Amino acid sequence: MEITNVMEYEEIAKNKLPKMVYDYYVSGAEDQWTLQENRNAFSRILFRPRILVDVSHIDMTTTVLGFKISMPIMVAPTAMQKMAHPDGEYATARAASAAGTIMTLSSWATSSVEEVASTGPGICFFQLYVLKDRNVVAQLVRRAERAGFKAIVLTVDTPRLGRREADIKNRFALPPYLTLKNFEGLDLGKMDKTNDSGLATYAAEQVDRSLSWKDVKWLQTITTLPILVKGVLTAEDTRLAIQAGAAGIIVSNHGARQLDYVPATIMALEEVVKAAQGKVPVFLDGGVRRGTDVFKALALGASGVFIGRPVVFSLAAEGEAGVKKVLQMLRDEFELTMALSGCRSLKEITRNHIMTEWDRPWIAPRL
Ligand SMILES: Cc1cc2nc3c(=O)[nH]c(=O)nc-3n(C[C@H](O)[C@H](O)[C@H](O)COP(=O)(O)O)c2cc1C
Repeated sequence: MEITNVMEYEEIAKNKLPKMVYDYYVSGAEDQWTLQENRNAFSRILFRPRILVDVSHIDMTTTVLGFKISMPIMVAPTAMQKMAHPDGEYATARAASAAGTIMTLSSWATSSVEEVASTGPGICFFQLYVLKDRNVVAQLVRRAERAGFKAIVLTVDTPRLGRREADIKNRFALPPYLTLKNFEGLDLGKMDKTNDSGLATYAAEQVDRSLSWKDVKWLQTITTLPILVKGVLTAEDTRLAIQAGAAGIIVSNHGARQLDYVPATIMALEEVVKAAQGKVPVFLDGGVRRGTDVFKALALGASGVFIGRPVVFSLAAEGEAGVKKVLQMLRDEFELTMALSGCRSLKEITRNHIMTEWDRPWIAPRL
């Protein structure tokens, strides 16, 4: 059967992957309210399309931190991609590069920064979890810099791991034939089976819970790379991130895997955009599955979006070809949305091209 949208890969991945792995990829925290809301909230935003605009040429290109990319759709960091497919992060890096966009490599990847850099000239960002051992952090950041990574994506919503109940039930652990490659040789590459989620135990042992805004400044003393702060949901933290020297902000709730009952990212976006006052670019991830979602995020002021689960599910289904197809489908849908809304370039996408329930309370569903 032909795949016609990004979401169809989820079912294929479910049938292909061991339950422990699929559950790890798909789950959110606790009641998974935010997980559903990340999708549902997009469906409450409607279009105000403009007609009779000459849309015979559509330009989706944009610039992120000075790097020109083919479309405002990038790859979010997702850990342990070799559980999905033997080519893991290599396949994702190649697919992102072929699509002319950016891949973000997770700290907890099953391929190292050097290995991913060796796949070719694609633009890569490195996602950082700050561990208790700051020497390890500094070494890792320098390795990423030396390997040619272009930015640090500092994840700030994970002082502790959220409760993902399927991982607890499954006693989730990294399969023994894989390692967290960036930490291999540092004795931090393995994840033991425990009476809990193995990742929760690993995070509790390694991640620095004391991380605070002063560490964002510290990070700038060990690297010249720009820092994107990932996991901001409020105006207050937006202002603090800018004060601390962030080069950009990613509105993210970690794919609803951390604190449950935070709003959908698309609901939090406009508050952050307003607080940023155009000083730094604001990006969004969480629940982006359609080109229409990308358009809605841009209309609310995002400079681009990142996708998480669609990458791991398509990787599981078809490896590099699957990830390429996901990026192509989102690209095609986004281009069509632009055309049908009367927008020829990203700068023509405005707040007036959409309406939200807070613009028009009467379109809100009655609960
Ligand atoms: C399986 C999985 C692993 C993830 N691993 C990381 C990670 O290592 N570091 C990180 O900052 N975010 C991680 N995230 C969060 C993603 O970067 C991103 O915020 C989220 O997946 C976006 O939502 P989406 O999956 O609905 O597209 C992970 C998400 C998933 C689903």
